[in-house]
Amino acid sequence: MIEFANRVRKLEASATLAIAAKAKEMKKNGVDVISLAAGEPDWDPPYEAKEASIAAIKDGNAHYTENSGLLELKQLLVKKLKEENNLEVTTKNIIINSGAKFSLYLALQALINEGDEVAVISPYWVSYIEQIKLAGGIPKVIPTSEEDGFKIDVEDLEKYLTARVKGLILNYPSNPTGVTYTEEELKYIGELAVKKDIFVLSDEIYEYFNYSGKHTSLASLSPKIFNNVITVNGFSKAYSMPGWRVGYAVAREDIVKKLDEIQSHSTSNPNTIAQMACIACLKESKSYVGKMVSEFKERRDYIVNALNSIHGIRCQIPGGAFYVFPNIQYYLAKEVGGIVPTNSIEFSSVLLEKAQVSVVPGSAFGLEGYIRLSYTQPVDRLKEAVKRIHSLLENR
Ligand SMILES: Cc1ncc(COP(=O)(O)O)c(C=O)c1O
Repeated sequence: MIEFANRVRKLEASATLAIAAKAKEMKKNGVDVISLAAGEPDWDPPYEAKEASIAAIKDGNAHYTENSGLLELKQLLVKKLKEENNLEVTTKNIIINSGAKFSLYLALQALINEGDEVAVISPYWVSYIEQIKLAGGIPKVIPTSEEDGFKIDVEDLEKYLTARVKGLILNYPSNPTGVTYTEEELKYIGELAVKKDIFVLSDEIYEYFNYSGKHTSLASLSPKIFNNVITVNGFSKAYSMPGWRVGYAVAREDIVKKLDEIQSHSTSNPNTIAQMACIACLKESKSYVGKMVSEFKERRDYIVNALNSIHGIRCQIPGGAFYVFPNIQYYLAKEVGGIVPTNSIEFSSVLLEKAQVSVVPGSAFGLEGYIRLSYTQPVDRLKEAVKRIHSLLENR
């Protein structure tokens, strides 16, 4: 019998797969499931991006690009990073990848040795833990609580950064809690990383979905901090084109070079047509993001109020991203729709079966007693979803 490699044996299957499969099956059978589980905006990509990719196909643009991505796209990113993120870089500091998920993967492959620890703040985005394990590392989870607004007290961070910790993954605005950090807090984190000589993977993919102020890029806070930070971002959320798979990393030249080498032996360049679409996004679709974000803010305000009006549900106002992460502990070990859920997976399953609303259990993000809802649906659909949840929970 052929055995799997040790590194993949350590991978954990997603706990949410069974719920996602059930939701799919229900939809296939004609049930009107409202999906609040997806991690992607519901908007159509910018018109200009679609036109550019069609033109690229018609022009026979079927060839490899530079392994690290099209020069023109990198040049446009240099401009964007300067204007929006206060980051002065050259094209040599940028690599374009097949999605931000792959940018993170490359960075961990390049920097982690067997047994190195990587600190991750919980609740965390699901792939961090498994990607660290795939690189041979050990995730070191730093817990946060609802009482603290799901934020680390930056002054507490140092005690987690012991000698075996080689890096920290920071994600703000955060998936799933929407937490963001102030410039002062970021400076503290950045200076600590320099002092401890650890890298920070700064996942800023939700940078535009920031409802509480302007996004600050960690790497922009000083040249020393820049040297220890790999900034990860992409087009999936900002331009609602997750399926086109374009992300990028910004870092010191030697780090980018290593990522480039690994990319050259794995995916090679990201999809050429999709890169052409991204050029159009940066050149012609600047107003698109702002419009989408202002609609998402209205949705956030609606769903937070509506969920808080349900007896026993407590939902904080997230500062960013497009998720809410309400506390559902009141309903655990109580009868809901004829079932007694004891954890967030069972609670999510009841919501799907009895209210036809699909959500993601908090345990998938490392915190039990919560669920994640994406407000990636128009307000009338969100209203219908909350109405169904309300009637299921209050008419038990
Ligand atoms: C925090 C975070 N980082 C990275 C990604 C991956 O983005 P991409 O689609 O560019 O791979 C996601 C997608 O859900 C995310 O939520």
